[in-house]
Amino acid sequence: MSNGQTITEIRRLKEDRNAVILAHNYQVPEIQDSADYVGDSLGLSRQAAETDAEVIVFCGVRFMAETAKILNPGKVVVLPDINAGCSLEESCPPDQLAQLQATNPNFYTIAYINCSAEVKKLSDIICTSGNAVRVVESAPKDRDLLFVPDENLGSWVMEQTGRPMTLWKGNCYVHTDFQRDNILRLKGLHPEAKVVVHPESLRGVRDLADIICSTEKMVNYCRDNPARQFIVVTESGIIHRMKKECPGKEFVCVPEYNVMKMPTDNCRCSECKYMKMNTLEKLRNCMRDLYPRIKLPEETMRRARLPIERMLALS
Ligand code: 13P
Ligand code: SF4
Repeated sequence: MSNGQTITEIRRLKEDRNAVILAHNYQVPEIQDSADYVGDSLGLSRQAAETDAEVIVFCGVRFMAETAKILNPGKVVVLPDINAGCSLEESCPPDQLAQLQATNPNFYTIAYINCSAEVKKLSDIICTSGNAVRVVESAPKDRDLLFVPDENLGSWVMEQTGRPMTLWKGNCYVHTDFQRDNILRLKGLHPEAKVVVHPESLRGVRDLADIICSTEKMVNYCRDNPARQFIVVTESGIIHRMKKECPGKEFVCVPEYNVMKMPTDNCRCSECKYMKMNTLEKLRNCMRDLYPRIKLPEETMRRARLPIERMLALS
């Protein structure tokens, strides 16, 4: 079946099911183009909290679809590929977090949204890359801050806010692959280019940035900035939206660690293997079969909802 026929089926299923399709900025172009909303984790959480649709079709990774389910326990939430995980989520097993929390009753736990529902349940408040600075600034002054699971985002937020935090030692395997030397080489080739960096990146890479921000803010920055060229230090799926929303501008993605060749227009560098598990065909299938569905224990959803709602109330 051609992509065109699959897209027609997706449109029909969307009406039949009264479904909304939410897609992350890293999804493949054909999924982004089929979605009702494309955005970062914060925007997607807001959309999930507000939707009237009966079925939420979440094109992203599992923790994002779980967040949508926690906010909508009575709705059907489907994910094209249920195995779409996240290295940050894997790096923070809930039992190990509970053990660390038990060592200090004064901990106030701030969890980056890239974590399991069980970790959210153990947290005081959730943040995304789009609001982490604000969330940390609003944390109670008399508490010891514990930030999980991304130590790179956490250390960037500490620099921004001046608030000390205990950092969980997790990281994103895509963003920690970006190397300072590769970006310096690209800067040499494109001296006028602005460097746009996601805060999950390493310190040495962040130091080369013109802006450090969430994927949504990256698109806005590239649109509003008069520069014509941008070196994009995040997952390359975002370049589809950048090209659509910033016609005439040029976007350069960064090759992975050890890749000495320069990226070309159709290279597949800096891809998240989890985000790329979703395909147009799997999207159609999950809407047709209403499977795979996100299922979580009631108790987990009830306790994980409060820290997410605290975050949404703040931003
Ligand atoms: P954003 O919320 O900035 O889109 O980041 C999500 C993510 O998974 C980054 O790797
Ligand atoms: Fe997780 Fe990194 Fe993939 Fe984002 S890019 S979903 S943080 S593994």
